[in-house]
Amino acid sequence: MAIREILEVPDPVLKQVSVPVTEFNAELRTLVEDMFETMYEAPGIGLAAIQLGVPLRVLVIDLQPDDDDAEPEPCNHDGHHHHHQPTKREPRVFINPVLTDPSDEHTVYQEGCLSVPEIYADVERPSRIRAQWQDLDGKHHEEVIEGLLATCLQHEMDHLEGVLFIDHLSRLKRQMALKKLEKLRKAA
Ligand code: NI
Repeated sequence: MAIREILEVPDPVLKQVSVPVTEFNAELRTLVEDMFETMYEAPGIGLAAIQLGVPLRVLVIDLQPDDDDAEPEPCNHDGHHHHHQPTKREPRVFINPVLTDPSDEHTVYQEGCLSVPEIYADVERPSRIRAQWQDLDGKHHEEVIEGLLATCLQHEMDHLEGVLFIDHLSRLKRQMALKKLEKLRKAA
């Protein structure tokens, strides 16, 4: 496994439309392993292959990205510190995902993206969607998904079409976000 470089705006590769996976082989497995390792290290909760410069329809998501090595939080109910259980990871892989049946109900989440570092903005998306995808063995799955996973999956799906979450913002808000990012980069 290896940590790979995450492409950031305005890298034009992020605008590419990704192509379906046709070979469920060792190379794909390595890509997915590297995607998880890179995402956990960042840390983030979702990553599309194109963010590593690979234009394949592959997404990884884990809504529990907390570092197992993190300092335990003090707990004050008895004045003692006690150790939290390490965060249980819930890695999910979506290959060739297709989303249908978006709910009429929408949810607003404050989104961020490893390719648009330090920028967060409210994005409204359908609260619930039907997802179909393949796993690493090429096996087909289908599930109705809601909550944060639905938001995250739709955000990652956008990456496969070359769309970033800031593309959902008004032109003015998007320009402000990109200017802020430029400032942060200069300060760094
Ligand atoms: Ni993203």
